[in-house]
Amino acid sequence: MEHLLLSNGVVMPQVGLGTYTLKDQTLESVVLRAAEDGYSMFDTASRYGNEEALGHALKTTLLPREKLFITTKLYVLDIYRFYHPRYHIMWRNKTVEDAYDNSCSRLGVAQADLYLLHACWPPVLKKMWRGIEDLYLSGRVRAIGVANFGIPQLELLNQINPRVMPMVNQLECTPYFHNRPAIEKSRQLGMQVYATSPLGRGLVTEQLLAEPVLQTIASQVGRSPAQVVLRWVIQQRLGVLSRSKKTEKVSQNIQLFDFCLTKEQMQAISKLECNLSTSSGIVHYVP
Ligand SMILES: NC(=O)c1ccc[n+]([C@@H]2O[C@H](COP(=O)([O-])OP(=O)(O)OC[C@H]3O[C@@H](n4cnc5c(N)ncnc54)[C@H](OP(=O)(O)O)[C@@H]3O)[C@@H](O)[C@H]2O)c1
Repeated sequence: MEHLLLSNGVVMPQVGLGTYTLKDQTLESVVLRAAEDGYSMFDTASRYGNEEALGHALKTTLLPREKLFITTKLYVLDIYRFYHPRYHIMWRNKTVEDAYDNSCSRLGVAQADLYLLHACWPPVLKKMWRGIEDLYLSGRVRAIGVANFGIPQLELLNQINPRVMPMVNQLECTPYFHNRPAIEKSRQLGMQVYATSPLGRGLVTEQLLAEPVLQTIASQVGRSPAQVVLRWVIQQRLGVLSRSKKTEKVSQNIQLFDFCLTKEQMQAISKLECNLSTSSGIVHYVP
């Protein structure tokens, strides 16, 4: 496993297990297999509703806490009872610290390794980021960051004069949607970028993995098309999170460090770019 260094000196595994939509027995078997295969980074969010199940599954792996890297995320409704983006209506219910404490207690840990703002909600960005900064500055979490912050959201963040810049930005990145400008901007601001939904979602995943160029390269390197995509991601010095409900695919998705793509193979995969983003769960083209 390779690692990535954050701006505050914290070291993160380059490859982690995503847990979006995973629940109950499936989550447990996937996490157990992942731990056996050498995953140590696990990504969840209060929004996923599986922090408790992940915490339980991690205990069954018998991996000591210090060997794990646990990421969770703050969602707007964790602290606001009601939020309406258009009318800027919001009723604050809890503090960021309450929300973080609740996440840690569901996970069964004293603290998370990385706490992310799950998205940018402009009217409450300042309050939410200040709360996350406070957690970091008081030593309650090892690193902080954001998710889904494209260039407009990074600019909004800049306008609130952050005391601490995010160390990580989780951004969608697939061969169909490189997200290059947002990745470059994040890097200029000192953030390490982790690619999310690297294999797309639903029918897009099927279509992507059936692409002739990926099939050809997969047979050239003796790997699956999914591994080729994940290798294409990490060869761009990005971290990557992937998720599967099938244990054999989870195993595959970490076996990425004993083969390499040539410059020509990287370029051929990059030609699949068509601005097709799937991160919202609804397939849409970003104009
Ligand atoms: N911060 C954010 O807002 C954000 C947004 C998106 C994602 N994430 C994080 O990133 C993680 C990964 O993203 P994701 O879950 O959207 O999608 P993903 O990892 O790109 O997986 C998409 C689909 O690919 C299939 N798959 C996985 N490995 C495969 C393999 N080796 N061969 C063939 N198919 C394979 C899976 O289907 P099967 O289950 O049927 O195998 C899965 O449904 C998430 O779980 C989450 O932790 C964060």
